[in-house]
Amino acid sequence: MQTVRVELGERSYDIVIDTGILSGIGERIKGFNFSKVAVISNPTVFNIYGDVVINSIKNAGFETLNVIIPDGEEYKNFNQTYQILTELLKNKLDRKSCLIALGGGVIGDITGFVASIYMRGIDFIQVPTTLLSQVDSSVGGKTGVNHELGKNMIGTFYQPRLVWIDIDTLKTLPKREILCGIAEIIKYGVIWDEELFEFLMHHRESILNLDPLPLTHIIRRSCEIKAEVVSKDEREAGLRAILNYGHTIGHAIETETGYSRFLHGEAIAIGMNREAWLSEIMGFLNRKDALKIKAVIDSYGLPSELPEDLNADKLISHMKLDKKVEAGEMKFILPEKIGKVKIQKGIDIENVRKALN
Ligand code: NAD
Ligand code: GLY
Repeated sequence: MQTVRVELGERSYDIVIDTGILSGIGERIKGFNFSKVAVISNPTVFNIYGDVVINSIKNAGFETLNVIIPDGEEYKNFNQTYQILTELLKNKLDRKSCLIALGGGVIGDITGFVASIYMRGIDFIQVPTTLLSQVDSSVGGKTGVNHELGKNMIGTFYQPRLVWIDIDTLKTLPKREILCGIAEIIKYGVIWDEELFEFLMHHRESILNLDPLPLTHIIRRSCEIKAEVVSKDEREAGLRAILNYGHTIGHAIETETGYSRFLHGEAIAIGMNREAWLSEIMGFLNRKDALKIKAVIDSYGLPSELPEDLNADKLISHMKLDKKVEAGEMKFILPEKIGKVKIQKGIDIENVRKALN
């Protein structure tokens, strides 16, 4: 069992990573003294893992409840938030109750959001079941839902009490979703850790086979990096923005394609490659490293290039409306070498256009 600590004073918590630990969640939270525990999930995940989790919590002596919302990003919204809150009220969850998010980032984000506002805040635990949620969304306390005027526009910073990662759950995850998680792990390699980047380059086959040793290594390392960044800058006053490498262009691609053509990790993979080229154009990154970033993305079968039908000017107009825009200036996270990035504002639009073509 591997444990990574997110250091945030009295709000610090553990991320526990291992194989076959799903049924151990009840035992682990026994000491937490919760009055009731509600598992929030969707039918896809709950049908596979719901019984194991519910039985584990019951066997540990807790009264349980499950709230199931439909599967899909389109359900990460106010309506479902309200439905969950209603179920919690009807079942008399109190301030000592706890929510467990069992699922990917959608379930994790909405559960965290509900936990942060129910009776002014109750405890919640992340049990992430996608690779992306295990290495990114379950850690760091960004919660939220989408608004029709923008994705992730409504939310809170609210940390979980525990993140419980059973990597065996990845065995049922579709390969395309696995690759989305890989994109985020490549991101950690580029922004922070050249060794992780090299590890991804040299262990592709065993990682894609979901061999527990390399898989645990890359998940643990990603969690360590995210934990360190979040501990230093929980509310994204500065450093935390580096976690958005690939996201300025990636989000513009997602918006332009209506969130239907590319999964998030795929759009980010294209964004990471094109932002590496932007950095090369600006003279911050050497060509060899830019090519290496593209090579690792390609080697996993992730997309690295913009489809020809996407128009650079339209993408730029989306970038100007992004959440990351400050005082009208776009912000890019640009690699200086593998393992190190800088936050750059005030980039000439012509250079962005060049990087997109
Ligand atoms: P997701 O939650 O939609 O899960 C992807 C699909 O996999 C869903 O159909 C889900 O039901 C299914 N699934 C989940 N676990 C499974 C399993 N073990 N076996 C079989 N199927 C399984 O997508 P995601 O990529 O996990 O998360 C994306 C969301 O995360 C987005 O809403 C994004 O905004 C958010 N996000 C948040 C943060 C953050 O810091 N809070 C960071 C990154 C992304
Ligand atoms: N996924 C980016 C962040 O948590 O800050």
